[in-house]
Amino acid sequence: MGHTDERVNLDSHTVMYGVFGHPVHHSRSPMMLNAAFQAAGLNAAYAAFHVHPERIKEAVEGIRGLQLRGVNITIPHKVEVMQYLDEIDDSARTIGAVNTIVNEQGKLTGYNTDGIGYVRALKEETGLSLENKRILLIGAGGAARGVGYGLSLEEPYEILIANRTEAKADALAEQLSRRVKVKSISFEEIAHYHKTVDLVINTTAVGMHPHSDAVPIKTDWLHEGVLVSDIIYTPRMTRLLTEAQARGAQVHSGLGMFIYQGAYAFEYWTGKTAPIQAMRAAAEAALDRSAT
Ligand code: ATR
Repeated sequence: MGHTDERVNLDSHTVMYGVFGHPVHHSRSPMMLNAAFQAAGLNAAYAAFHVHPERIKEAVEGIRGLQLRGVNITIPHKVEVMQYLDEIDDSARTIGAVNTIVNEQGKLTGYNTDGIGYVRALKEETGLSLENKRILLIGAGGAARGVGYGLSLEEPYEILIANRTEAKADALAEQLSRRVKVKSISFEEIAHYHKTVDLVINTTAVGMHPHSDAVPIKTDWLHEGVLVSDIIYTPRMTRLLTEAQARGAQVHSGLGMFIYQGAYAFEYWTGKTAPIQAMRAAAEAALDRSAT
């Protein structure tokens, strides 16, 4: 179903963008990025391309052939796509996945804007500075690698990583330790740090719709001195956030990560500052629609 309220006026100069995914028709990126182009007054348009895994190489060649200016990459192509690009930015190399491609006259560079998008959302939406903070990161999968990378560019005091599979937390800690003080801990060990943790970030899918009764950690120790952030945005208030708020903690929900990963992509493609308010309004409208 088409859901674009304010249609872009395409003409023979329109610069084309898109997202490659499988599946892709649930994506909220077209609504958000088309709203951004419109707000910025750009003659540009963004479409969703359903790319089957065995066609990803041809799809990337299509970026060059058709001169798409930029593309977002989503599940399941984020790793596979890397071998077909000309350059991989430090962000994507460290995280091991690409979510944004910039086409500079046929030369394709892969970036990953998830982690830096998350950190920008956290800072702008909460006013928090990460400097000298002790951060508890829950999870050690792809999303945690992105968030960990973003955090490692700030100057936190220490990152503690707790994950169900401890070996994965060890591996992520080892990788991040090149840039920042970091320690892998068990879920039981979280108790040792109760009094000194400033920020808790859930990067797992625990608590996501339709399993919104689940919580990734015990919450009885949370208090007003802690900020609890969840990268999940369906529901907007996860059980983790509701329980944290009931204990006086400040809370931060995940929609901003989606908005700001797209904002960075917009900025890499266009060289202009992203119109955040228009993007947020479109993302919220897309979310409301899919909830009904
Ligand atoms: P993503 O790209 O969304 O991070 P992923 O790479 O599969 O997806 O990672 C999922 C993360 O959520 C992992 O940290 C995973 O823990 P394991 O490494 O032990 O698998 C965590 N996770 C998923 N389901 C979980 C559950 N029911 N309880 C605890 N952790 C869970």
